[in-house]
Amino acid sequence: MSATIISGKQVSEEIRGSIAGEVKELAAKGVVPGLAVVLVGEDPASQVYVRNKEKACHDLGFYSEVHRLPAETSQEELLSLVDKLNRQDSINGILVQLPLPGHIDEKAVINTITVDKDVDGFHPVNVGNLVIGDDSLLPCTPAGVIELIKRAGISLSGKHAVVIGRSNIVGKPVSLLLQRENATVTMCHSRTANMPEIARQADVLVVAIGRANFIDASYVKPGAVVIDVGMNRLENGKLAGDVDFESVKEVSGPITPVPGGVGPMTITMLMKNTLIAAKRHHG
Ligand code: GUN
Repeated sequence: MSATIISGKQVSEEIRGSIAGEVKELAAKGVVPGLAVVLVGEDPASQVYVRNKEKACHDLGFYSEVHRLPAETSQEELLSLVDKLNRQDSINGILVQLPLPGHIDEKAVINTITVDKDVDGFHPVNVGNLVIGDDSLLPCTPAGVIELIKRAGISLSGKHAVVIGRSNIVGKPVSLLLQRENATVTMCHSRTANMPEIARQADVLVVAIGRANFIDASYVKPGAVVIDVGMNRLENGKLAGDVDFESVKEVSGPITPVPGGVGPMTITMLMKNTLIAAKRHHG
């Protein structure tokens, strides 16, 4: 039997529709949410991500600024641009695309972004607020995972969620958000012993390890929800998730594809964060 496919593309379009509606209402009051994206260097994947963010701003009626800086930009120059954007009234959200060139300290850059404009949710104050359950700007991919599960009509309360991967960007924050939804959470990572056995206990399996097609059907309990956060570029140029979709969909319950699953949700949640930041600023 083949599983239901959770379409991030479709859910994302629904959310974007409601964001565009809110932007229209704000425009009537003279408020336009503004996002600044900063790209240092010419990493091809980053260039695509940044173009997509610029397009999302255009499509949803946001004000957008993209700062493309050469790879040799000094840390001091980058920090001074962030500082200028922190003080710029037309900008509600600031995103510095990662990874940065090796000579720049990513932490120093993230720590310089004003907490209220940190639409990535990477600033230590926003991370701390996430841990203690206070209101904060949530990191986009983890927030997108939760939104996708909820909008697919899946309840998380009392469920056993297993997260594979412990990165600061996905694994750690998504495990906290799953707990917030009253799931019982187990985290696995590269040193976990008996990973298939633990993964098979999951009602909801969230995979973010960055290894193409790593999770096969032996990791999945029949009927379990499978959320694939992986985005791996194969040698043939195709995009693959961390989950071997073809074999896993034969045993799983609802499952996200790659592409068209979690990916589209990330930019949508970035737009949602920028809208929230704008509303708070003009609140
Ligand atoms: N590079 C890859 N993913 C992300 C993200 O979510 N935010 C930023 N700033 N850079 C990234």
